[in-house]
Amino acid sequence: MKPEERRRVGRLANDLKQRVENKLEEKAAEIRGRSLDSRAAQVAIDVSLPGRRAPRGHRHPLTQTLQDLVDIFRGMGFKVVEGPEVELDYYNFEALNIPRDHPARDMQDTFYVTDDVVLRTQTSPVQVRTMESESPPIRIISPGKVYRHDADVTHSPMFFQIEGLMVDRDVSFSDLRGVLEAFLHEFFGPETEMRFRPSFFPFTEPSAEVDIRCLICRGSGCRVCSGSGWLEVLGAGMVDPAVFRFVGYDPEEVQGFAFGLGVERMAMLRHGIDDIRLFYENDLRFLSQF
Ligand code: FA5
Repeated sequence: MKPEERRRVGRLANDLKQRVENKLEEKAAEIRGRSLDSRAAQVAIDVSLPGRRAPRGHRHPLTQTLQDLVDIFRGMGFKVVEGPEVELDYYNFEALNIPRDHPARDMQDTFYVTDDVVLRTQTSPVQVRTMESESPPIRIISPGKVYRHDADVTHSPMFFQIEGLMVDRDVSFSDLRGVLEAFLHEFFGPETEMRFRPSFFPFTEPSAEVDIRCLICRGSGCRVCSGSGWLEVLGAGMVDPAVFRFVGYDPEEVQGFAFGLGVERMAMLRHGIDDIRLFYENDLRFLSQF
């Protein structure tokens, strides 16, 4: 090439080389960036995603029922008192007017620890312990475990009862009725019909069993209520003067009422459960429904 031509072509060649180098560098940077992006995408943590929740449990259906029952009575001014589950025969039976050779002992199949010590068969001994240590007026409930040699679809060897006791100078059977009606309306609903049926407990006189209109058939008769239209929910009565004498109260001075209910039975009626054993098998498919 001629010298002046060589200068012009040399400049053009330089430009071209520069442009090629720039393009190469651009492409290399793009490729480097792309592989960084794809690595970043693989290990990405999206901090805005909701976390995995740990499964959360809740109170056992029996505990829920027990606490609801206790709350209702507490709302009526009853104080909660507890007593021992391993109990002296004296408190579980004798001071409740059930002597050793009395046929009424057969009403409850008892686990004996020794001749004088039993697993309590009812929460009623707490009545006696409370009256021994306090003077009237008394208004208590006592929830807790009790034990009987008894097992089928509606009976468990260990179950929960709640005992109620009210003693004062002017307590009558209508107070008992009023308290139980208020309680049953609160627990089962204000439409709940109830009735008292004469019954026998050695520590109350007169004694009654309390029924509510069957929650399933509303009284027309079904399998759950054995066709009677009524469901038994608790035992109750006026404290027998003999019990007052055991604790040193004067039956001429004070009167009282007592009642006792089974917590499993209440929970079964409330939730339509037909087998008491479900409460104690700890099957999560059952428990998680409550
Ligand atoms: C009593 O235990 C009396 N102490 C109740 C009472 C208290 C009456 C104060 C008068 C005054 P009873 O044996 O009927 O009564 O039991 C009361 C309730 O416990 C029954 O209605 C039933 O719901 C429940 N129950 C009894 N045995 C069992 C059992 N094996 N498993 C589950 N619940 C039971």
